[in-house]
Amino acid sequence: TPRVLSGIQPSGGLTLGNYLGAIKRFVETQDAGGHQTLYCIVDLHAMTVWQDPAALTRNTRELAAGYLASGIDPEKSILFNQSQVPEHTQLAWIFNTVARMGWMGRMTQWKDKAGKNAEAASLGLFAYPALMAADMMIYHATHVPVGEDQKQHVELTRDIATKFNHDYDTAFFPLIEPVIEGPATRVMSLRDGSKKMSKSDPSDASRINMTDDADTISKKIRKARTDAEPLPETYEGLKDRPEARNLVNIYAGLAECSVADVMAKHAGEGFGEFKPALADLAVEKLAPISTEMARLMEDPAEIDRILARGAERAREIAAPILAETYRIVGLVR
Ligand code: TYM
Repeated sequence: TPRVLSGIQPSGGLTLGNYLGAIKRFVETQDAGGHQTLYCIVDLHAMTVWQDPAALTRNTRELAAGYLASGIDPEKSILFNQSQVPEHTQLAWIFNTVARMGWMGRMTQWKDKAGKNAEAASLGLFAYPALMAADMMIYHATHVPVGEDQKQHVELTRDIATKFNHDYDTAFFPLIEPVIEGPATRVMSLRDGSKKMSKSDPSDASRINMTDDADTISKKIRKARTDAEPLPETYEGLKDRPEARNLVNIYAGLAECSVADVMAKHAGEGFGEFKPALADLAVEKLAPISTEMARLMEDPAEIDRILARGAERAREIAAPILAETYRIVGLVR
């Protein structure tokens, strides 16, 4: 059976971008059946930029609560945090010896995050994509649902697998397929249609957090930046209107319909009409999740038990793959 792995960093709160671009699709994949699904909280990746220890703990549990509240079922999927499965970092070391400095230096996420002062960035931030490749390859995952911004990292994973297979004359690692589907693979900021919605944006009004209450969600959507034109007949008509297009994409993602359906239903409406409709839809879909997250957060011990159990199951798959990797490269056991 195809094996699906994906991950999210516990580096601050979950956003609507994470939900539509990732978690919601993880739930759909889980519920469709026919796949083995592993979903990870990549706590070690979060540490590539400074994390306050207490905040890292809380954000890890809150992300677990977000997965559970959105419909990840720890019986159907393996839900765990990366640091409890040491095979990820063990394989990452091997991949550090396979990947080339030049490949890492070309990653746009590295360039964005390191900025002008790469000398001061952590070594972990530079090596980040090798650990990410290990996250997937330690399970021989075949598919990875991600948002648009992770495409380059998945391609690098394929490059690492290809070079490993070539260098050691084997076909041990599969070439994983990115699955970047649906109307909301790149949710943009509510304040600037040229910027990705992100948990690190200094403006809280730029994003919807999965912990926002109904009132906040509704306010943020009503205040979202837009133009003054009504919605056109077709989606193509939104080509030069990034803010308007973003709201249509969000609507389609939340309503689980196509962007063409949204246009058919709302063409001709101005934002005075469309925004309240979108705000109601967002509250209907998201408020129950934030309520459930808050309920789950009241029992952190139960969350920790779920993650520990998930990690145990993950290790059952990972351990033999690591052992075989060590054998292939000639490490004495
Ligand atoms: P991260 O934590 O930044 O984001 C988690 C997931 O959410 C998606 N996403 C978005 N999708 C649509 N619109 C947005 N505005 C938006 N913002 C975020 C991301 O594409 C991602 O799918 N490197 C990864 C974490 C990772 C990982 C992995 C992913 C580590 N190991 C293994 C898959 C497989 C990251 O930083 O995601």
